[in-house]
Amino acid sequence: MTTAFDFFSASRILFGPGGIQQLGSLTAELGRTALLVTNAGQPGDGGVVDQAAGLLYEAGVGVVVHRQRGEPTVRDIETALETARSFRCQTVVGLGGGSALDTAKAVGGLLAHEGGPLDYLEVVGRGRKLHSPATPWIAVPTTAGTGAEVTRNAVIGVPEQGFKASLRSELLLPRIALVDPELAVSVPAAVTARSGMDALCQLIEAYTSRGAQPITDALARDGIGRAARALPRAVADGQDRDAREDMALAALFSGIALTNAGLGAVHGFAAPAGANYPIPHGTVCARLLPPVVAANAAALAAESANHPLLDKYRQLGRLLTGRTDLPDNQAIEAGVRFLEQLVEQLEIPRLSDFGLRPEGFAPLIARARRSSSMRYNPVTLSDTALEAILRHAC
Ligand SMILES: [Fe+2]
Repeated sequence: MTTAFDFFSASRILFGPGGIQQLGSLTAELGRTALLVTNAGQPGDGGVVDQAAGLLYEAGVGVVVHRQRGEPTVRDIETALETARSFRCQTVVGLGGGSALDTAKAVGGLLAHEGGPLDYLEVVGRGRKLHSPATPWIAVPTTAGTGAEVTRNAVIGVPEQGFKASLRSELLLPRIALVDPELAVSVPAAVTARSGMDALCQLIEAYTSRGAQPITDALARDGIGRAARALPRAVADGQDRDAREDMALAALFSGIALTNAGLGAVHGFAAPAGANYPIPHGTVCARLLPPVVAANAAALAAESANHPLLDKYRQLGRLLTGRTDLPDNQAIEAGVRFLEQLVEQLEIPRLSDFGLRPEGFAPLIARARRSSSMRYNPVTLSDTALEAILRHAC
């Protein structure tokens, strides 16, 4: 067997508690005026936005605050881009969850190009190729989830088409990913739970993806065990610094893994589900993960009882449960059961709570098949299997 791969990440990853204190000096090296894109609160609430703005001012950086509400749409990106252009921002700081980081990423990228998001968006846009490096930008995640600080795509909603698509290029990667696990300490339990499930899901989908490669596998194996142990603790006690640190690492690893290996059916569904129903991304991922893992393993076993990928599903069961001694004939089932119990323990709502009904399954399946993540699923799932997955999550 030969091994060949291509690997991208942020130019620099600064990880550690208290790292936010370096935001001012790091940003000052990139520009005199920064667009601060955030969904981590609002100016004046005494929280992390004020702290970040204060650090930037102290370092002599002019700050234009742009609040991103919810997951970004094409319109949101156009507005943020107009603001950045009109204030002649030379750099962008993304501070918050995946929605803020993806908005900052898209703006950083588009600032270095003519035109707007629809010119470059894949699937639903003109799909032109980004050709210049993004305006140097800094990603500061405040929730441990999407890993957007190290991914090369920004997920953007197109509400008119009921779809989410990506602006994608390695040129979009941030100059610096500044990961301070302490920023997540004040994140509420429900957000911690669903963001953490997104990270765990991304690690698992990247590990079993058709695009998996040795570097991403190593990160995924480490991250899966870390998240399985730390997530219940971080949700039960937000002040648990060790659990927060493990989740920040798991999320970081998940971003590096997914952007280099691709994902799978869970994320294939997540884009159209999130665009058509008011379901947070992490909630979709959490509810779909156990049935997708079970369906993939079953479909691979149906192809061949000795399918080489089945060994990864057995490893997954051992990593999740922490039981390295699990025999081959029990490991996959034990992994699925672990995920089922975790989703219940974390009180993740069902997709039916957001209005998904059986009559909505067929259009969702049709849209999921168009999504780029679906192509990386380790096996092609039938419509019947995809329907059973949705029924299980409702
Ligand atoms: Fe995700």
